[in-house]
Amino acid sequence: MAFDIARVRAAYPALTEGFVHFDGAGGTQTAQPVIDAVAAAMGAATGNRSTAFIPGRRSLDLVAAARSAVADLLGGQPEGVVLGPSATALTYTLARTLGAGWRPGDEVVVSRLDHDANVRPWVQAAEAAGATVRWAEFDRATGELPAGQYADLVGERTRLVAVTAGSNAIGTAPDVAAIAKTAHAAGALVCVDGVHAVPHGPVDVASLGADFLVTSAYKWSGPHLAAMVADPARWETLRPAKLLPSSDAVPDRFEYGTPSFPLLAGVAAAVDHLATLDPAATGSRRERVRAGLAAAQAHEEAVFDRLLAGLTAHPAVTVYGSPARRCPTVSFRVAGRTPAETAAALGAAGCCLSSGDYYAYEYFQAMGLRDSGGAVRASVYHYNTVEEVDRLLAELDRLAGGGATMAG
Ligand SMILES: Cc1ncc(COP(=O)(O)O)c(C=O)c1O
Repeated sequence: MAFDIARVRAAYPALTEGFVHFDGAGGTQTAQPVIDAVAAAMGAATGNRSTAFIPGRRSLDLVAAARSAVADLLGGQPEGVVLGPSATALTYTLARTLGAGWRPGDEVVVSRLDHDANVRPWVQAAEAAGATVRWAEFDRATGELPAGQYADLVGERTRLVAVTAGSNAIGTAPDVAAIAKTAHAAGALVCVDGVHAVPHGPVDVASLGADFLVTSAYKWSGPHLAAMVADPARWETLRPAKLLPSSDAVPDRFEYGTPSFPLLAGVAAAVDHLATLDPAATGSRRERVRAGLAAAQAHEEAVFDRLLAGLTAHPAVTVYGSPARRCPTVSFRVAGRTPAETAAALGAAGCCLSSGDYYAYEYFQAMGLRDSGGAVRASVYHYNTVEEVDRLLAELDRLAGGGATMAG
């Protein structure tokens, strides 16, 4: 069934402002049902979590509903969903907790393709424990992260492998399942950064082989909150630093302070919204979310193909990487302009794209591009259209001289 792009776009009130948003990788626009859910939770009588009174029970329910929604999104169990303010914060909590059990001589494997949120917490936890950091390298030409290298990187002292399911810089979707298999064969745990990949297609924590999988709701039409999912039995084995009076139960003991209950209502509403993207889908919310994201993925791929073809064909544009399996995200430079200048010129024309390293620090460092401003990033989300691609390519033409606009 064709993706009903008009219906989908109508769910995003911000789109009426007329900007072209090619920065979903930095954060998507918020869907109306999310706005409604947050407003309703804020407008209702509220209280901190308590079973004693109805407003307090509402807060308990909002937490439970958010856990259940994220579990449906990622294929986990609600009791295994830890909620938090950001993927960065959740990964730091996990890294400090796991790192407390590492010893000198233990090893941790990180990748140069990852966002720094799935690198630095591990590097710093390793440093604190006297553990050794080993680096998985991406292919400088293609931007692929060969899974085969992990056989050499992982050994009996490896405690953890951290890897991304999707690069927020160039879109590469590594073969996480193969990497996880290698890690597990050596008895290592696997932490997968799903922040960029989760909005762009159905994801399943078990199929990825992830022991821990993190996602951020603001990358999938929701509010600025994040979640990390793992088997509840795995969480049971871990003891984070925590306040004495706070809950010692799983998953609560990994959550710090009082959460934003209204925004948690938005997390659940965002998952419900993703479950509507394929209106023909039936079954459980998990099944409808998977169908919705599969429909979105097919649409995004068509839009992205046109974008990539236009960028690649343009004589003044350099595109970085050409991974075979990818999310709809690309980084590029325009000859004669810094990435910041290109982004500012496009921004002045109403096209919203990021420039810099977008915290994919190691990628841009390894490419020798970081000190000269990184690159410009275009990322496609399910509300983007081919018309928007053509508008962007036309703006690039204006900026750099002809060649980007696709015929037909
Ligand atoms: C791939 C990836 N990982 C991690 C993060 C960090 O997410 P958060 O802002 O929730 O800490 C981002 C944010 O852009 C990202 O793109």
